[in-house]
Amino acid sequence: MRKRVLVTVTMLLFSFGLAFGQIAISNLRCELLVNPIGIDMQRPSLSWEITSLIRNTNQIAYQILVSENENNLAVNKGDVWDSGKTASDSTAFVSYKGKKLKKDTRYYWKIKIWTNQGEGVWSATAYWHQGLMNYKDWAATQVGEMPFVDWGGRWIGFDRMFPWDGNQSENRLSARYFRKEFKPVGKVKSATAYIIGLGLYELYINGKKIGNHVLAPIPTDYTKNVKYNAFDVKENLKEGINAIGVVLGNGRYYTMRQLHQEYKIKTFGFPKLLFNLVLKYEDGTETVVFSDNTWKGTADGPIRSNNEYDGENYDATKEMLGWNKVGFDDSKWLKAEFVQEPGGNYEAQMSENMKVMDSIPPVSITKIAGDRYIIDFGQNMTGWMKFAAQGKKGEQVKLRYAESLTPNGELAVANLRDAKAQAVYTLKGSGKEFWEPSFTYYGFRYVEVSGYPGTPTKENFVAKMVYDDVRTVGTFKSSNPLLNQIYKNVWWGTAGNYKGMPVDCPQRNERQPWLGDRGIGTIGENFMFDNARIYKKLVNDIKLAQKADGSLPDVAPDFWRYYSDNITWPGVMLLITDMLHQQTGDVAVVRETYPVMHKWLRYMKDRFMTTDYILNKDSYGDWCAPPATIEAGRGISANQKFPSPLISTAYYYHFTNMMAGYAAMQNKTEDVSYYKNLGKKIKEAFNITYYKDAGYYGKGELTDNLLPLYFEMVAEPNVDKVFQYVVNTIKVKNQGHLSTGVIGTQWLMRTLSKYGRADIALQIATKKTYPSWGYMIENGATTIWELWNGNTAAPDMNSQNHVMMVGDLVVWYYQYLAGIQSSVQNPGFRKIIMSPEFVHGLDFVQASHQAITGLIKSEWKREKGKITWTVAIPSNSTAEIHIPSSSLKNIQENSKPISSINEITYLRTEKGRQVFEVPSGNYVFKF
Ligand code: BGC
Repeated sequence: MRKRVLVTVTMLLFSFGLAFGQIAISNLRCELLVNPIGIDMQRPSLSWEITSLIRNTNQIAYQILVSENENNLAVNKGDVWDSGKTASDSTAFVSYKGKKLKKDTRYYWKIKIWTNQGEGVWSATAYWHQGLMNYKDWAATQVGEMPFVDWGGRWIGFDRMFPWDGNQSENRLSARYFRKEFKPVGKVKSATAYIIGLGLYELYINGKKIGNHVLAPIPTDYTKNVKYNAFDVKENLKEGINAIGVVLGNGRYYTMRQLHQEYKIKTFGFPKLLFNLVLKYEDGTETVVFSDNTWKGTADGPIRSNNEYDGENYDATKEMLGWNKVGFDDSKWLKAEFVQEPGGNYEAQMSENMKVMDSIPPVSITKIAGDRYIIDFGQNMTGWMKFAAQGKKGEQVKLRYAESLTPNGELAVANLRDAKAQAVYTLKGSGKEFWEPSFTYYGFRYVEVSGYPGTPTKENFVAKMVYDDVRTVGTFKSSNPLLNQIYKNVWWGTAGNYKGMPVDCPQRNERQPWLGDRGIGTIGENFMFDNARIYKKLVNDIKLAQKADGSLPDVAPDFWRYYSDNITWPGVMLLITDMLHQQTGDVAVVRETYPVMHKWLRYMKDRFMTTDYILNKDSYGDWCAPPATIEAGRGISANQKFPSPLISTAYYYHFTNMMAGYAAMQNKTEDVSYYKNLGKKIKEAFNITYYKDAGYYGKGELTDNLLPLYFEMVAEPNVDKVFQYVVNTIKVKNQGHLSTGVIGTQWLMRTLSKYGRADIALQIATKKTYPSWGYMIENGATTIWELWNGNTAAPDMNSQNHVMMVGDLVVWYYQYLAGIQSSVQNPGFRKIIMSPEFVHGLDFVQASHQAITGLIKSEWKREKGKITWTVAIPSNSTAEIHIPSSSLKNIQENSKPISSINEITYLRTEKGRQVFEVPSGNYVFKF
């Protein structure tokens, strides 16, 4: 840690010649994106990070300068915004308050801070590029009175099938190719390409692919909003004539069909394009190259068919050499046609596209029969395989993907349902050919190759792991290898299921943003990934999917129309809002979602709450709870539902508490009392209806009792009894195992720890027998299964890469084992509650999390009965450190008695722990 800080600071000192040596500002972000291109809000939020070598460094004021001109900033001139010295300790989500922002304009910014340790320094310069801000900005010129025909950026495409678009049972289409040549009319100062290519696009300028993303843009309900991507393409332009090429794939726009349930599937139409290339010239003039019917198009290119479920067929003999370069003969191409617009708002995409994030070589290649080989990549993942082959023109290499093998070594494809998950590549026969798909992805560990010319060898194949381009921001390691392996499996599963939105699974014919699969688990995800923007988008998708009467869906965007009016799936909106607020300190998200949540809770109450305050409406119950034994679940499909009003009522109660808190944050005093009163009544009703004198709730299931305990619904005198019931269930009935499904597992580990039995949580987490995460691993899982009995259940509902069963496990790793938790009162880790469970059975735990304020670390190890605990608290944060010790005398920091350390303040003794307030810095405690 120290080393890292030193390096950072030295670099900054070197590059900016700082006089004030030990404090630096880094990681400047606009809307939490580094140097974004294409922002469409008038008041984007700005964030930064303070790095300091000095303990107890807190910001007391900042000054932000914004200018269109980098040179002005260099002389500290903020002619677009100069915030002046502003007293504030905020380093995140500071709202821009300068001059009205102009479309298609780059803004440079920098910041100076003042801290309690003295005047700070100026940061380096960062920028954001304001994009097209609304529908009207897509007009080719800002001159308002231009006649309609001169407006740019009109939707083009072919709203029809072509003869070779054969396989309609699967909704496969050939890709659509469009091209346009143009000549800039002056010396280009800036060139920004704005593209909405639906469902998916690839953009080329002069033959070069723009951007390093894949499968863009992120999917939305296109009737509500469509996302544009923007790129600085100045470097791609050349003197004279230039060429633009765009390929369109189906994505979710021409959606994947399932014949047996077409009624529930939303589809939008044929692929289409809206494009503006804004060219600004040195002389101050501007022209726009835009999509219209002067573009040429064809569907008769090499991508013969594409579809997210079924894969892609590519015929290299149909390649059109130079189609995206100047001079290509497009006389046989069709005239692009004007087509209907999708309907939704045009919005800047504020979360990352997918990218090839890793390349993984094969572990083995095994011949099964004839010309069929199985390539094993050793890891279940999402993405695709790239290969090289050399053969004769017209030879076909066929690929089929699967997560596992049958006992006789064939691909196990039954769990893909009717997703074909395949690819066919037709060779052009001109030397070595390389290929990877453009508009599909697979959930796989194994690929079957057939028709490969010659013998397939490892060096000709590589797997490409594809997920949203977000940073991994957490690390976790302990002395228990199984805990570490589970963490690794969760990482692969979580990353792979980020597909511009969090999906349930990447392999079978679903891949839907099912809401119930997320919830509390997203806190764990946020410790691992910089995923705030993915979830902010999801929350917005839920908001957009709200019906006029208040109903919220189970899937959002509602590509599948499920409005089953239950609490646990749509209610994830509250849990994710809470995650974003707690983990990042984002208050705006609370304000934006509050009215939606309020309306939905009213809707549910008015329709489904009995006069006795029981919420009598649930759909899924404790979804996918483990069958009592492996035998009991063998061959059985997991799709049975066991609705539970106990679960829906407990959740509703929990939500009233959360809403009372949110209402208080916004000074909505009436709402505060509304939710408090309602909550009180529900709690009473819940106890009357479900509490049994024997000291348990409902049917005595683990989940029935975990919820009232975690939500603090249990009457004080019964708490011990109910908790004891939970302990007995796990220890005696379950023999140390869990017995929870998607709902119960979200609260399991933290309830056990909260009530003092982290040791039992550890026991559950380290089990290798059924049902447990360890059981999955013992049976070969490299991600997390959808089902606890995923090795023996019926295949139709048995994904091997779902994250829903992770529940609160990773949250528990970070918050309880490592002791890194944001305080509720000071969210976004402004105050960190550090109270690790130094649980017996573990010799060490090492965790880190790159929070919005900076890097947090907690590493403890036990040696000869003594604990050494190393902690890093980022600048502008403080920590409440909880150390289990009977006396202050037994605690040292940096080999000195803790009481002698000036910065550290003793607060109190609580539950056998000495509690201290510790400001930012690095510390080593021994006790
Ligand atoms: C999905 C789940 C989802 C569930 C709800 C399944 O098919 O894969 O993850 O939450 O349906 O019914």
